[in-house]
Amino acid sequence: MLKPTGVTFAGTGSFVPEKIMSNQDLEKMVDTSDEWIRTRTGIKERRLISDGAATSDLAYEASRRALEAAKIKPEDLDLIIVGTITPDYFFPSTACILQNRLGANGSGAFDLLAACSGFIYGVSAASEYLARGSCKTALIVGAEALSTFTDYTDRGSCVLFGDGAGAAVLVKTDEPRGVLYTTLGADGSGAEYMILPAGGSRLPASHQTVDRRLHYMKIRGRETFKFAVTKMQDLLVEAIERLEIAVNDIALVIPHQVNIRILDAAAKKIHLPKEKMYINIDRYGNTSAASVPIALDEANREGRLSPGDIVILVAFGGGLTWASAVIRW
Ligand code: ACO
Repeated sequence: MLKPTGVTFAGTGSFVPEKIMSNQDLEKMVDTSDEWIRTRTGIKERRLISDGAATSDLAYEASRRALEAAKIKPEDLDLIIVGTITPDYFFPSTACILQNRLGANGSGAFDLLAACSGFIYGVSAASEYLARGSCKTALIVGAEALSTFTDYTDRGSCVLFGDGAGAAVLVKTDEPRGVLYTTLGADGSGAEYMILPAGGSRLPASHQTVDRRLHYMKIRGRETFKFAVTKMQDLLVEAIERLEIAVNDIALVIPHQVNIRILDAAAKKIHLPKEKMYINIDRYGNTSAASVPIALDEANREGRLSPGDIVILVAFGGGLTWASAVIRW
């Protein structure tokens, strides 16, 4: 068994906006059906940010809850990392806006762009800083206002996404628990599978880009489906091999909530019992970087995580990117 790094989760928090968009609401907007969405994705409803609100507003609420759970004051934070693909602005970073709002001025703060893998990439980066002693207390956030970049005329993508945020406070401990290891990966040859085509230096904003709806996310679902099943299975098998454990020794897998069929297929392939895979996609849809930390916080508050448990966070997304964090809770 690997030795823990001594970097542990002191508290978690999450926040989703009040407004619910159901599959029935979407039936009135595009040519789709509740039945298609439920059977093809597992999604029943998703949350939408209110008009005028932004990603940092969701991040702030989730962070407040995580800090409260960890009993840590914002001024004690050394580092804030926000994983997001829907920042308030291109710059300044959403992390800086969050830092100021929390009153954590002086800490390091940066955004991290790894799409749905963003939160776990953030946990990985912060774990390294903490393990080396270059910081003592870090706040990692995954926050998205995906609805502001969703094309509600495109039935192939608009049914998938929702808004929300999750956060965790990481600290160093002398106890034999915490992050055991993290894995990061990417394959840029799949960059166009999930993309926001315009608004960057490649295709700056113009009347034409707006007319062609190029400021909305475009996805190629079929291609990413196969990648996601294979990658998730690979990351879980890697954890079992590196920890020298049996599948039954895993207490809970907290996956990116991408599609119930992807999660079911990966669980089936490694013979993981259904109850060991945390699922909330039915209520929130795909919230990209927010998906894993929202699920982690819900599992934590529901008492699904006990000291000593082996917990695996796993995600894959645009980039293409993938990541896992294997934790002794
Ligand atoms: N309602 C009804 N019919 C639909 C809808 C809809 N909302 N969307 C697509 N269809 C139709 C298609 O037009 C197609 O019709 P056709 O056969 O006549 O051409 C048919 O349904 C099947 O389409 P597929 O794309 O093959 O459907 P699939 O079973 O692959 O499901 C989905 C699509 C849900 C997107 C799936 O591929 C998926 O979950 N992919 C991975 C998830 C993903 O890519 N998420 C984006 C990640 S985003 C990020 O990382 C930020």
